[in-house]
Amino acid sequence: MHKRRISLVDKLISEADTVLKTLASRGNSARRPSPSQGHQDSRLSASERVHAAGLMRVNHTGEVCAQALYQGQALTAKLPTVRDEMQQAAQEELDHLVWCEERLQELGSHTSYLNPVWYGMSFALGALAGAISDKVSLGFVAATEERVCAHLRDHLKQLPEEDRKSQLILQQMLEDEQRHGESALKAGGANFPRPLKDAMSSVSRLMTRTSYRL
Ligand SMILES: [Fe+2]
Ligand SMILES: [Fe+2]
Repeated sequence: MHKRRISLVDKLISEADTVLKTLASRGNSARRPSPSQGHQDSRLSASERVHAAGLMRVNHTGEVCAQALYQGQALTAKLPTVRDEMQQAAQEELDHLVWCEERLQELGSHTSYLNPVWYGMSFALGALAGAISDKVSLGFVAATEERVCAHLRDHLKQLPEEDRKSQLILQQMLEDEQRHGESALKAGGANFPRPLKDAMSSVSRLMTRTSYRL
């Protein structure tokens, strides 16, 4: 019991660095270059720029939530058979986080002020799902990715036609998130019932509405 408590504290301390890096938008690096690299920034009107930044801020907050979800999960879930796959997915989420941050800077905007709130909530949900079972934990990843993919498709339609750089980032993210969702289900994740998915959608709507502006 005592040993277990020490290892939990150790884990919490080792996660603290990642938490700070994620929320401070500093010190993270992507393994893959941004898909927008080498593309010219297009001329956007002031209102197009504000809209594109709002959408990219929402996507950035989604990636902050992904970091928190994986960290919460890593704390409690066993996931012995899929640990490598999950680590690979977590690294890809880090790429997404960095790409969105860079794009927001290029658009002259900022990350959401509410990120700490969403971080805390996602961390708690990830840890709770992991504590229940790996099947629930992986199911939670799959249901979340399904939601994220729906957002990304919607944002790809909503982005200004000229904003090629943001489009390229979201296209690569969509490809990655689809794969993450599929592999979570393949690894034994539960297919969440519709009412639960609907409840998750309501929370995610609240997140998108607030992060778009704040
Ligand atoms: Fe992601
Ligand atoms: Fe993902």
